Amino acid sequence: MKHQIERCRMVEKEKGENGDMGKVAIYPGSFDPLTYGHIDVVERGLEIFDKIIVAIAENEEKRPLFSVEERLRMVRTIFKDTPNVIVDSFKGLLVDYVGKTNAKVILRGLRATSDFEYEFHMASMNRSLNTHLDTLFMMTSKDYFFVSSRTIKEVARLGGAVEGLVPDLVVRRLKEKFKLPIPKKRQIGWDD
Ligand code: PNS
Repeated sequence: MKHQIERCRMVEKEKGENGDMGKVAIYPGSFDPLTYGHIDVVERGLEIFDKIIVAIAENEEKRPLFSVEERLRMVRTIFKDTPNVIVDSFKGLLVDYVGKTNAKVILRGLRATSDFEYEFHMASMNRSLNTHLDTLFMMTSKDYFFVSSRTIKEVARLGGAVEGLVPDLVVRRLKEKFKLPIPKKRQIGWDD
């Protein structure tokens, strides 16, 4: 038994040395824009996975507020100090994108039961397209369960405060989009 455990450790070590990425999850979404709810899922996901690929969907049919380039830039800036988070974008089917990576798991946040039906259908469809793929749902922290990109955009557009719900950089980009006054540059979190 002791030998078996040692052998497992050696295999794991060899895998690491050979550039194996370890456990990888894809965290797909529109991220239009990224919220602290999304960041919370990534941070908690990193307790389970060695690497998370944040995959921004290029879906023009959803008429996003931010272009995919703008979202990529924002999300990359926000995770610039987190080396085990990779930020990418994809077009077309999620399963096809996942197939090009070494991920076996799709990570999704679940805020309320109202999310469940949509997520259940999506996960079931993805699994029927690729039976080797699993979707792992993570309950959003209680501090963010009411936060969605859609409501963030609506509140910001109408001049409401979204500070504390999205990173400062996102607050700034929202104000720019909606042509709202931008307060004096702060010391942290505004660069990209
Ligand atoms: O943040 P969102 O908008 O809820 O994310 C939805 C997303 C991007 C994960 C989903 O729409 C998606 O996977 N789109 C890619 C197209 C696809 O694979 N569709 C089939 C899954 S039902």
